[in-house]
Amino acid sequence: MNLFELSTRKEYNTACKNAAENPEIFWDDIASHYHWQKKGFKTLDWDFKEPKINWFQGGKLNITENCLDRHLKINGETIALIWEPNNPEESEIRMTYNELHIAVCKFSNVLKSQGINKGDRVAIYMPMIPELTVGVLACARIGAIHSVVFAGFSSQALAERINDSTCCAVLTSDGMYRGSKNLAVKTTVDEALTSCPSIKTVVVVKRDNSDIQMMANRDIWYHEAELNVSDYCPAEPMDSEDMLFILYTSGSTGKPKGIVHTCGGYMVYVGYSFKNVFQYRKGDIYWCTADVGWITGHSYIIYGPLLNCATTLIFEGIPTWPNAGRFWEICDKYSVNQFYTAPTAIRSLMALGNKWVESASLKTLKVIGSVGEPINKEAWDWYEKLVGRSNCPIVDTWWQTETGGIMISGLGDINEQRATFAGLPLPGIHPVILDVNGIEISDDGIEGHLCIKFPWPSMLRTIYGDNQRCKHVYFSNYDGYYFTGDGAKREDGMFRIVGRVDDVLNVSGHRFGTAEIENAINSSTLVTESAVVGYPHPVKGQGIYAFISLETGNHSEKDVNISVISAVVESIGHIAKPDIIQIAQGLPKTRSGKIMRRILRKIAEGNTEDMGDTSTLLDPSVIDSLIQGKK
Ligand code: WT7
Repeated sequence: MNLFELSTRKEYNTACKNAAENPEIFWDDIASHYHWQKKGFKTLDWDFKEPKINWFQGGKLNITENCLDRHLKINGETIALIWEPNNPEESEIRMTYNELHIAVCKFSNVLKSQGINKGDRVAIYMPMIPELTVGVLACARIGAIHSVVFAGFSSQALAERINDSTCCAVLTSDGMYRGSKNLAVKTTVDEALTSCPSIKTVVVVKRDNSDIQMMANRDIWYHEAELNVSDYCPAEPMDSEDMLFILYTSGSTGKPKGIVHTCGGYMVYVGYSFKNVFQYRKGDIYWCTADVGWITGHSYIIYGPLLNCATTLIFEGIPTWPNAGRFWEICDKYSVNQFYTAPTAIRSLMALGNKWVESASLKTLKVIGSVGEPINKEAWDWYEKLVGRSNCPIVDTWWQTETGGIMISGLGDINEQRATFAGLPLPGIHPVILDVNGIEISDDGIEGHLCIKFPWPSMLRTIYGDNQRCKHVYFSNYDGYYFTGDGAKREDGMFRIVGRVDDVLNVSGHRFGTAEIENAINSSTLVTESAVVGYPHPVKGQGIYAFISLETGNHSEKDVNISVISAVVESIGHIAKPDIIQIAQGLPKTRSGKIMRRILRKIAEGNTEDMGDTSTLLDPSVIDSLIQGKK
């Protein structure tokens, strides 16, 4: 039985059974579907205490040989990548596997010509253009560690990420298009680099022909550099456990965490999960609407599809420009078979009326996916009926930056589907729900903390430069378990994810730590102190509610709002702007000075009937004044 390609419930059951009984034999078999320069000698070596996780130790590979070279002989003329520009009037780009291979080799040689070597960290700050994918793969080809930073982050946020992993180069573009906007990109990089001494090279791709500054001895144009290099570059042999990339994500403290993924295990799991979750079959056109700046883009725009010789569509624009029918037009234009998006996009399009989706054909769709946050029943039903035409399974895929690949999800229509449930774990994945005492909950319907009790190949290996923090955040809440930070419950073995149980917000599928936003707000000179909580938001899932107390002095509410918002935009970016700012006379603190967030959450939610135990508050009267001041 070929357990790499699961097509029936029976095969899924067999895969689960085999993986549970003998994980090493199971994953060895899955790994054998890839090209290894040298096979590993030890499949798994692990200890969640340290943590130390090694998969396929001793193996040698290069993920780009698996994404590109091994397809060329038979499928060189298959379309690897379709790029749909922001402006529908501009022509699309299609690249075959042969062409993508050449493009990646050239980009690799440009990086090498700049003295970039195996193990060096390279930041990538680029819009959704083909060169973003090419640049990512070029790093992987020469063994440089890519650190993609979403191009919506501010210069300060970019600088913080560059410095944390001492990157030696940045790959970027002159400018970018996003809906009706034309935004500067290189200028943001220039600002960041005033505080990044480790950067020696900036490679600039031309996108919008905007007038930018090029710094001598640091900045080079990609279109000039590529003329001087060969179109073949050998793939660097990598150990299975060599780093492939770093991707920063937010935690409950202020500083973003550089999540580390390594070459062998990430490749094995991401290729496997892509094939089965989306039931991808040869010739299908697959489209994931995420940005490559997030893990979804890494795993399921670039690596997962290319590992399977798929055709992956990359869209530069946004769902609502030039109109709210753009997604559906693109599905029809390219006869998309698998479509993967986020609940926030579904809800925002739902709110703009059905006519846009109703006028599309969408007849080629086979599987539609959801990712990033819990999907509510209304959005699920709309997605299923209006987009899937009651004819496509929804795969609600639960996973995280840290898990590298999809952990819990339907596999096409192989398993039973239940609205708002992510469903069953993939083969080899062992999620459990723990109660406050760390005891596994076996009863249905009881909420607890979602943990995973056995390693899987694409799990994070560490936090860059801080294994102690990795241990503390993920492996010390419950001994012997990986702690996800999510709450969940189960019904008939199927998982329903309820949302974060830590101080992490999920705003339109983007992750922010409350402390991270508070630090940003506190950098406003008008603010003494702030507390940020989430509240239910009809489109974004969660909105950002900021309570702030001010320095003395008279300031209009408008001035305060401007100052707070610009502080957040400067230190993080537009994506983290508070939705609601409430000026508070005081924050609810305990006698020991700790802010009681529970109370602020209730006020932000407008749920103030029962405040629970407030006896430890220093000044209980602040509650009433906060309720009165609610926005
Ligand atoms: C957090 C991870 C990797 C996906 C993109 C976000 C939430 C993710 C689901 C889902 C309910 C989900 C969780 C998780 N989440 N997918 N299908 N249902 N919640 O990656 O930025 O690392 O965020 O997103 O809370 O912990 P991320």
